[in-house]
Amino acid sequence: MNVTTTTQPPLQSGADTIAVGVFEDEGIAHDVDGGALEALLDRGEARRSFGHLAVSHAGGGRFILVGLGERSAFDAERARRAAATVLGRARELGTQTLCWEVPHHVDDDVAGALVEGTLLANYRFTLFKGGDDDTSARGPGALVLSAHDDLAPAAARAAALAGAQNAARDLQNRPANDLTPTALADEARRLAGAIAGLEVEVLGRAEIEARGMGAFAAVFRGSDQEPALIVLRYAHPEPRGPVLGMVGKAVTFDSGGLTIKTGPGMVEMKFDMSGGAAVLEAAALVARRELPVRLVAVIGATDNVISGRSIKPGDIVSAADGTTIEINNTDAEGRLVLADCILHARELGAERLVDLATLTGGVVTALGSVYAGVMSNDDAWCAAVTAAGDAAGEPVWRLPLHPRYAEAIEGVYADITNTGRDRKAHPLMGAEFLHRFAGDVPWAHLDIAGVANDNGLPYTGKGGAGWGVRLLVTLTESLAAGPS
Ligand code: BES
Ligand code: MN
Ligand code: ZN
Repeated sequence: MNVTTTTQPPLQSGADTIAVGVFEDEGIAHDVDGGALEALLDRGEARRSFGHLAVSHAGGGRFILVGLGERSAFDAERARRAAATVLGRARELGTQTLCWEVPHHVDDDVAGALVEGTLLANYRFTLFKGGDDDTSARGPGALVLSAHDDLAPAAARAAALAGAQNAARDLQNRPANDLTPTALADEARRLAGAIAGLEVEVLGRAEIEARGMGAFAAVFRGSDQEPALIVLRYAHPEPRGPVLGMVGKAVTFDSGGLTIKTGPGMVEMKFDMSGGAAVLEAAALVARRELPVRLVAVIGATDNVISGRSIKPGDIVSAADGTTIEINNTDAEGRLVLADCILHARELGAERLVDLATLTGGVVTALGSVYAGVMSNDDAWCAAVTAAGDAAGEPVWRLPLHPRYAEAIEGVYADITNTGRDRKAHPLMGAEFLHRFAGDVPWAHLDIAGVANDNGLPYTGKGGAGWGVRLLVTLTESLAAGPS
């Protein structure tokens, strides 16, 4: 969707549909036809309660009035939701250009959130759907923000974020027979080819093995698909802050391996590459926007399937740093992939680490689809990640590390095991496993299994949600803004 801003009144924007929000105890700021919109409120057809919609023709235009509730409760998240509600009706109406009259006296992040909510709600995954030439089924092609102030920078940032998030959703939604590790690597190459300053390197099966990455290799051993260790690098000529390392789990399909999942548990496992998708699109956007930082992104892509070569429970492998790992559950594969990816990011100079992974079902039980879990070895870094999540509208909730969780994954026959001995605290065992490989580099592990897809939000509710793109880019901006 094309996004522009104007300081002209909405009726002069050329839009066929104008969205106007109304707060409790407030009137219509710019009414038409001598009070036609206010009259809708008086009649009760339009209401000020949050999310209530009314449609009317007046002043030569078509208006969607939406209740915004109490002004004091109206924040960026509510703006995303209100925008999604409006967009839904605008699509039904066959809107081609939608103009949002931005409410007076709202912050730039709220105005940006109107853009995000609109673009995210307008997303459809149509790659495998038969052609539909009906323009109304396609949703508006243009969005205009009308406000007294210049909102161009805020709107451009929000449009870029939502665009990257929707690109991550496209990757997530593609099924495993289409989005193979090689296809994901191709996408990384395509982005690097299109964005100046973004460099890509892809290591395949032989190179990963040659580098001693036996933990990662254990996962792809059973597969006929070529794995991909995707490395993206970007460095601004005048960078600020520490070198940021983003790490993503991209298991393009997780059958569980020989510790096989049940049918219902397996059905959504094409989404097990969601962390990698978010990292890829966030890294690309950081480079595209030329943020003054240094960034390395490492994405471990493979599927986790079964063959005569598959890893077996009890097998012992060693990660790139020589740590030996007893694999007692082939379904705890994400941490194996990430161990070598984290080591690789450190080798490439990462001074701060953030990893995104659909790591455990346990985090879904604990936090559902509201918060992602964050586990970290560094309070300040964890606070920075949490603040970025709050600012971006992708909140994270800290879960604990503890030496006793680390003890529980000590090995019987090797240095460590990939799962605890009993069915306890899976997210934290997984985090302590990764902690060993992060060492003392400030690191935050985001377990996104509950939020990555089907998270129930009005603007990303079904399928891939692209969760994490906004957080990662906002986090990178905060490094760029901090002391160099
Ligand atoms: N990809 C799964 C985690 C997952 C579960 C993501 C449900 C989304 C929804 C991961 O590889 C996995 O299988 N984790 C195991 C770990 C366990 C064996 C320690 C789990 O959570 O059951
Ligand atoms: Mn698994
Ligand atoms: Zn998995």
